[in-house]
Amino acid sequence: MSDAAHDALIRDQFTRQAVPFSTAAPIADAAALKMLVEAAEAGPDDTVLDVACGGGIVVCAFAPHVRHATGIDMTPAMLERARRHAAETGVANVAWREGDVTRLPFPDSAFTIVVTRFAMHHFPEPRAVFAEMRRVCAPGGRIVVADTYASPDPAKAAEFNRLELLRDPSHRRCLALAELQGLFRESGLGEAAASFYELRDSVDNLLARSFPNPGDDQKIVDLFAASLDDQRLGIPVSRDRDGRLCYAYLAAILAAKKP
Ligand SMILES: C[S@@+](CC[C@H](N)C(=O)[O-])C[C@H]1O[C@@H](n2cnc3c(N)ncnc32)[C@H](O)[C@@H]1O
Repeated sequence: MSDAAHDALIRDQFTRQAVPFSTAAPIADAAALKMLVEAAEAGPDDTVLDVACGGGIVVCAFAPHVRHATGIDMTPAMLERARRHAAETGVANVAWREGDVTRLPFPDSAFTIVVTRFAMHHFPEPRAVFAEMRRVCAPGGRIVVADTYASPDPAKAAEFNRLELLRDPSHRRCLALAELQGLFRESGLGEAAASFYELRDSVDNLLARSFPNPGDDQKIVDLFAASLDDQRLGIPVSRDRDGRLCYAYLAAILAAKKP
């Protein structure tokens, strides 16, 4: 797929997902956002860049703790949502920029915290985006990557990515935890400090905020149901008391200082 075709898929999906994604309970989870701000060791002198900021949830979580926070994203509908969220949250020390994060439109060392959440799995070249994050981070600053991760078992990782691609055609690939950690190691940032949590919800709720191609809903439900028996997705899947199919996506927050 060409870069232009992938960008069009991203904008199409995230124009439709702008409100349902940004308001979903596991995405807006305040405890998980607190973990992210803590992992970045955010303080009053920090300037933050959130890479692929979507509806501005991460920027608005950082804003009360730092001097200034900027979000950049390529989907105008997400940035509209971010502006509204900032106004509703009452934060004024924020700015928004439309652009492709593969080439960040900022000078070297421009920010003291550079963060990205739930976006690495959308990038055709995660290493290129990580290199840009490292470039715009000042020495002594922190680089933070939060994302869902796939099983270390390649067969389960492939099934999980198949599911995610059906659910969201703009999905590229969820990395395994070791691959996410490798981004830091390979660029000379050493071992990233890691914290973990789960995004839990029912499959019905997940589908209500997803926009798969027509006819793919049932394939998604079938994959979750099959994983109840054989764990093919490599993530926890269960039925609640009412018989509803439920899942837990595994998420990691990785953070390291730029030397
Ligand atoms: C799943 S959303 C995550 C939003 C936000 N980071 C959060 O955690 O709430 C992914 C976002 O990545 C953006 N995105 C994907 N690829 C991008 C790129 N190359 N440049 C800029 N934004 C991108 C999409 O527009 C979308 O808003």
